[in-house]
Amino acid sequence: MITRSLLLAILTLLLAQAAQAVEGMWLPIMLKKYTIQQMEEKGFKLTADDLYSINQESIKDAVVGLVHMSNPYHHFCSGQIISNQGLMLTNHHCGYDYIQSHSSVENDYLTNGFWAMNQQEELTNDDLGVCFLNRMEDVTLKILENIEVNSDEFVRDSIIESNIRNIELQASENGLYYAKVQPFFAGNEYYLSVYKIYTDVRLVGAPPSAIGKFGGDTDNWMWPRHTGDFSLFRIYADTNNNPADYSESNVPYKPAKVLDISISGINKGDFTMVLGYPGTTTQYLPSYAVAMQKNIINPAKIKIRTQSLNIIKAAMNADPKVRIQYSSKAAGIANGWKKWMGENIGLERMNTIKKKQQLEENFQDWLVQNEVTRSEYGKILQQYEKLYTQLTPNLLAAVYFNETLFESETVDLAGKFNALDQLTKGTEKEKSDKTIQSLVALTDQFYKNYNFETDKKLFRAYIEFFYTNVPKEFHPEMVSLIDSKFKGSVDDFTNFVYQKSIFPYPEKLHAFLATFSPKKVKQLHTDPMVIIYNQALAVYMQSLNPVLKVTNKQINDLHQKYIKGLREFQANKQFYPDANSTFRIAFGQIDNYIPMDAVTYNYQTTLEGIIEKDNPDIYDYKVPARLKELYQNKEFGVFANPDGTMPVCFTASNHTTGGNSGSPVLNDKGQLLGINFDRNWEGTMSDIMYDPEMCRNITLDIRYILFIIDKFAGAGYLINEMNLVKEANQDRLPIQTNVTQSQ
Ligand code: ARG
Ligand code: ASP
Repeated sequence: MITRSLLLAILTLLLAQAAQAVEGMWLPIMLKKYTIQQMEEKGFKLTADDLYSINQESIKDAVVGLVHMSNPYHHFCSGQIISNQGLMLTNHHCGYDYIQSHSSVENDYLTNGFWAMNQQEELTNDDLGVCFLNRMEDVTLKILENIEVNSDEFVRDSIIESNIRNIELQASENGLYYAKVQPFFAGNEYYLSVYKIYTDVRLVGAPPSAIGKFGGDTDNWMWPRHTGDFSLFRIYADTNNNPADYSESNVPYKPAKVLDISISGINKGDFTMVLGYPGTTTQYLPSYAVAMQKNIINPAKIKIRTQSLNIIKAAMNADPKVRIQYSSKAAGIANGWKKWMGENIGLERMNTIKKKQQLEENFQDWLVQNEVTRSEYGKILQQYEKLYTQLTPNLLAAVYFNETLFESETVDLAGKFNALDQLTKGTEKEKSDKTIQSLVALTDQFYKNYNFETDKKLFRAYIEFFYTNVPKEFHPEMVSLIDSKFKGSVDDFTNFVYQKSIFPYPEKLHAFLATFSPKKVKQLHTDPMVIIYNQALAVYMQSLNPVLKVTNKQINDLHQKYIKGLREFQANKQFYPDANSTFRIAFGQIDNYIPMDAVTYNYQTTLEGIIEKDNPDIYDYKVPARLKELYQNKEFGVFANPDGTMPVCFTASNHTTGGNSGSPVLNDKGQLLGINFDRNWEGTMSDIMYDPEMCRNITLDIRYILFIIDKFAGAGYLINEMNLVKEANQDRLPIQTNVTQSQ
């Protein structure tokens, strides 16, 4: 007979297994070894080679990372290829800056949306790159070869560095590819990623913000969600289909692989997977680090940003012009602010620090049993404690520098004028004209989104936070004037800066630039904004950065040991490496969740919910008239749910993070169900600890995207480029769906 406790034990084990199956962001080369069986158990119908192969076309060839060419290895978002004409789909918030850069008062594409009705109307973008993964390779042995076991740390690091450089150089094949070797598991393993980057990428379409950003910051990180967060681009290549800078003679890129698009609909429990470029996670932090983040760093950042958002929001509410000027800034500030609050609540609810401490105790109990492990890992926890105690005050001071002094837009602008220092009497005219022109352009752009009162209030708040929270030893001299000259009055200090500096005044700054000669550099050096920037930077670089660097390096070395030890200690556990902006695959299922007692959130939202939220008085919830009309007339074409409603978003249990935005969310057969764009508020601690019950990624249903393109925007010609499939019957035969083009 099975006893109650045995039954409980079995149940717990089963639950633990189910839970384990969804956590993780896996490297494609790990699939066969670790996850494919679990994926199959959840309904996956393809093979690992269908997802990633270096010998044949595979789904990875249709998944892209978005980069700024100034930083080509940081994928700020993900995307996918959805037509054989190089059409690339990503989020609206990923394309936002590009859409904004083409917008003016006359052609406000953010407010009104943009649709190229043919390829000639598409808009070119500077600095945007689309990155295709050619291959990934485990190069651990090559990186760590010729390193002696007990070699000096400095020698070891320089050998690693030179090995990395050699491998990258070789893999780049004379500039044909971008190649990067990165450490994984804190340097226990190394992988090479080889990319091709296309740089002629043109804007094709974006819905109005009232759709693409519907719900705004109010709904950001939240479920139920109704944001139509998508935009469309087209990749161009030279006539050999190779990357080329913009040229009229370029032609649409011919992809190796195009995703099929499923319009068959979704159900709870359906298998899903997310392929893309998650940015940063820290799953293996010790309890000391989590405590620092949760109790010290997050609260400080939240406190500062609460204050800035109060200032900005009051100004935005009082003046529609300020709303336009500051909405993107507010969105950026609010995004982190809201995430950290959710993260802290989640860490608390999960009892994360306690759980980590328990793990550390068990680890310690395990390692003392054996002399080898005792000598290798015996001191790790002690050292962690010491190092985090050392790190915390310095890191906190750095946070204050970054979130206050360097966050002031005017101080930042002033810092950019240091470029003028380079211009001396002997400088060639061409060079000096170029520097001045670029500062004029920067200044124009700056004042477009500048409001004197708001900026001054923000500056005052930043200075006050800095002055009262950062130890005096780190105060730039200028900030010390608050004591020595202004008797502790932050107000008087602020007034002084805003009277004396030319940076808060467009006319003064323009006049300064218009009449600039090298003699005038002196005037800059007496401007309080420039002084604050330069002194703050000097203190930061000289007093703070070097200490932080040393401690962080020590922590990283310790981390390498700790993760190595953990992997020995939990020999049966499947470890996945922390996200680091490399290609990953996560898998899970479409699922509801229970955010609190007695409440269940359904996995799907529909257009009904948009109409429910409609409120012409609230900026975030103004529904465009045309959308309401389509709703009223039920003009949903082939995109509706079987019950006749129009799907918008859905939740699933894929483990994702920042950078996964725009990632394809695929079904069991690798067809596109939608694009990832966010996570739920209750699950934002997943960067540190994942909770299968609570963590959900939020996907924009592809059928809503198609509906908006076809019925709302009348750009059905784009849909004709795509490959839509619908399950006709139980055999799941793919058929080409006739999609009508609206006028
Ligand atoms: N929370 C999402 C992410 O982290 C979306 C951010 C953009 N949207 C916004 N309202 N700020 O990137
Ligand atoms: N919204 C995030 C992004 O932009 C995704 C996330 O953090 O879940 O990548």
